[in-house]
Amino acid sequence: MTDKELLAQQAANQVEDGMLVGLGTGSTADCFIRELGRRNAEAGLRVSVAASSTVSAILAQSLALPLVALEHLARLDLYVDGADEVAPDLTLLKGRGADLVREKLLARASDRFLVLVDQSKLVDRIGERFPIPVEVMPFAWQLVKRSLEALGGRGELRRNASKDGLAVSSHGSLILDVVFDPGCDSKTLDEFLNDTPGVVEHGIFRGLASAILVAADGRIQERRVAGC
Ligand code: A5P
Repeated sequence: MTDKELLAQQAANQVEDGMLVGLGTGSTADCFIRELGRRNAEAGLRVSVAASSTVSAILAQSLALPLVALEHLARLDLYVDGADEVAPDLTLLKGRGADLVREKLLARASDRFLVLVDQSKLVDRIGERFPIPVEVMPFAWQLVKRSLEALGGRGELRRNASKDGLAVSSHGSLILDVVFDPGCDSKTLDEFLNDTPGVVEHGIFRGLASAILVAADGRIQERRVAGC
C-alpha cells in the first residue's frame, strides 16, 4: 500500500454512519474519495458528500457517493483534503489545483478539517517551496498585482496546463502565483490578501486545519493544534 492509500484508509476510517463529508481536490483527495466510496458500499455508511471541484464530483459520482450541491450546504461534519505546504502552526498552503474558493468554503464550513500529506509537505514557513496562489477577478489582475508589490510580492499569471493560455478557475477567475520575501509571515500575508480588493481568494489556510495526518515510509503520525 502506498503512503497516500494508507492516509486515505486512515481518514476514511474516521467517517461515521450518516456523515456529510467534504471532498478535497488533488491526488491525495482522489485516494480518499476512492476509499470512502469503497467503505460506503461495503459498510453501508449512508454518507453524503460535497465536492470542492468538478473532478472530485465526477469521481464521487462514479463511486455512487450521493452528492450535495454547495448551494444546499449549511455545514459539514468532516472535510478531507491534501495540501501543498504545512507550517509548524498547521497553517496550510493550498491551491495548485486552482479551486481555492470551494476548498476554503468547505474547510470553513466543516466541524473538522482533516489534512492528508506526506512529510515532504512539511515546511518551516508558508511560501517556502511554492508561490502563493491568489485568485483574482479577471479585470482586476493588474491592480491586484500592483497592490501586492507594496508588500514585496512578485506575481505572474498562471498558465494553463498546455502553456498556450491562462489558467482559469472553475468559476472564471485568473490565478496570480505570487512570491513574497521570506521575512513576510503568513499571518501578515493572510490579512493583507483578505483585505485587498479584487482578490477572490488565496491559498493560505490559517486556523482552519483541525488535524494533519503525516505519512512517512509507511507510517502515519497525527499533528493537532495545541489544545484541540
Ligand atoms: C488543490 O487545489 C490543492 O490544494 C491540493 O489539495 C494540493 O495541491 C495537494 O495535492 P496533492 O494531494 O495532489 O499533492
